[in-house]
Amino acid sequence: MHKFDFKSIEADIVERGWAILKGVYDMALIEDIRADIERQIPVYERIQKEEGVFEESQNAYHHSIVGCPAQMKLIDPNPIHGFLEHYFDGRYILNAMGTTCILPNQPVYTQKIHRDSRSYSDGSRLILNTLIMLDDSTEDNGATWMLEGSHKGGSRPSDEEFYAKSIRACGQTGDVLLFDGNIWHSSGANKTDKPRRIITPLYSKPFVKQSLDYPRAFGMDFANKISPELKQIIGYNALTPTCIQEFYKPRDKRFYKSDQG
Ligand SMILES: [Fe+2]
Repeated sequence: MHKFDFKSIEADIVERGWAILKGVYDMALIEDIRADIERQIPVYERIQKEEGVFEESQNAYHHSIVGCPAQMKLIDPNPIHGFLEHYFDGRYILNAMGTTCILPNQPVYTQKIHRDSRSYSDGSRLILNTLIMLDDSTEDNGATWMLEGSHKGGSRPSDEEFYAKSIRACGQTGDVLLFDGNIWHSSGANKTDKPRRIITPLYSKPFVKQSLDYPRAFGMDFANKISPELKQIIGYNALTPTCIQEFYKPRDKRFYKSDQG
């Protein structure tokens, strides 16, 4: 079990806007995940083509936690669960979790300067993004550009300013980046001849709406087969009732549990 120094990770996120955790996942699991992604890519491409979003979604596999079953092992058990409860000062959920494959000399939509949180929420810790490296991340293969301190406010920097002042968040396979949902960042370009693959579990307070309804996607019976921790992370304790009868449930059966903030 990893022992993380919560205080120093938290201080990095608060001050710089990001932190890195070394050696969180082992190679056997990473290889399992890589193979699973390869198997699922044709399914994603078919759906993206059917929906007419293939070009704009190229090399991005949104909500791969639903499409790539092996990825559940990355969050169950969640090696950073303790830190996340510390950071959010209580319960949190998985808001989104997708895979991006940055291929040599190919574009991906994350290569633009952006914030993951569209609504700026200075200091309120609504969203924390994490980035699991399935390959080493280097300046040559597209390591994330981070504008340190930009989570504290300010409008979008110009391209010139952003690339002049940003640092590269490099790391090795199995490392995890954590960054404030308000920081301005961008994927880099891959100038090598190998892919750079990442998975980005984005966590939030339970009252922030998930960008895909995971409890519905996995189904309500799925909650009976999983650990209490995973049930919480997927969002089964933060459901919205759909009728008055569902709303009037005794405390222990409530759709949105009282400890979800
Ligand atoms: Fe992002």
